[in-house]
Amino acid sequence: MKDLILVTGGTGYIGSHTAVELIEAGYEVVIVDNLSNSEATVVDGIEAITGVRPALEVCDCTDYAAMKAVFDKYGRIKAAIHFAAYKAVGESVEKPLAYYQNNFLSLITVMRLLAEAKSEGFVFSSSCTVYGQPDVLPVTENAPVKQAMSPYGNTKQVGEEIIRDATSAGLPYQSIILRYFNPIGAHPSAEIGELPLGVPQNLLPFVTQTAAGIREKLRVFGDDYNTPDGSCVRDYIHVVDLAKAHVVAVRRLLEKKATQDVEVFNLGTGRGLSVLEIIRTFEKVTGVKLNYEIVGRRAGDIEQVWANPEHANKVLGWTAESSVEETLLSAWKWQQKLGGKA
Ligand code: UD1
Repeated sequence: MKDLILVTGGTGYIGSHTAVELIEAGYEVVIVDNLSNSEATVVDGIEAITGVRPALEVCDCTDYAAMKAVFDKYGRIKAAIHFAAYKAVGESVEKPLAYYQNNFLSLITVMRLLAEAKSEGFVFSSSCTVYGQPDVLPVTENAPVKQAMSPYGNTKQVGEEIIRDATSAGLPYQSIILRYFNPIGAHPSAEIGELPLGVPQNLLPFVTQTAAGIREKLRVFGDDYNTPDGSCVRDYIHVVDLAKAHVVAVRRLLEKKATQDVEVFNLGTGRGLSVLEIIRTFEKVTGVKLNYEIVGRRAGDIEQVWANPEHANKVLGWTAESSVEETLLSAWKWQQKLGGKA
């Protein structure tokens, strides 16, 4: 019988790509999602790629009774990957209580139920946002966690602390915290990808929507940073590479190979790219000219951050393999499939 993995937020952007990789690695997947920022039809895309339709339970991870019913229904959930969370930095500043309520309560509920079910592993979606502007680049997992710049960022920092505190007090399972850098791109089949609601806040969906003529102009937030070309630098990682790291993390937990009860890994490429480099590379690989203008800095943006991924490379045996060119092409292919649908 296949090991059953719970994927919360599994119809979302990173969750859906991870569901595909889990299925392709031989796991059985049950997705829990409240569809607050995704569509049930994403499961069709997962099925089209893998030939397997994962179970979808439409339910809110903050609802203990509903989640307990899911655990009871399946009975043998071996591990969970917890993606379900609100993730918009700007919105979190406007609605901090909604962010704290949703992101903390869902985390606590899933962790409690995993303990009650005597499951064997927990994987948490964290973010490089916990490092703020690092003093040393590339940033390692040992870099200090800086004061969060938004309630969203704080939910990641405190979420990590919740996992550590609960683990110290005794849990039947070990946890792996994955700190993502900037996930972009889509599955090469273009069956699944990012589906931003409304006006995208993140760079890549704004780039592809501008290229598709849905947005008139891309605004580049600042060209006066202390970086080679003045625009901000990030570590953009193909979402499929990111998804594969989750499979490795789950396998490590189920095979009891983790050497600490809570392990932390950076998931990045180790390569920093500026906003202007992304624009130029996108234009080169797609042949589409982007209409853009340089505007003032965006409040809360950090100047530059990229990962030192050696810990994940060595310990997990995982490396981000995709080139930025193929990653950007996959994002464009997905946007072309979506067409004018913003
Ligand atoms: C932010 C968060 C990250 C979170 C992610 C998901 C921080 C430091 N980072 O990443 O933790 O997981 O959002 O929402 O809080 N840009 C433009 N024009 C645009 C959009 C973006 O120039 O229209 C630039 C930004 O200034 C930035 C880069 O593109 O330099 C990437 O921005 P974005 O995609 O929003 O991601 P982050 O802000 O890095």
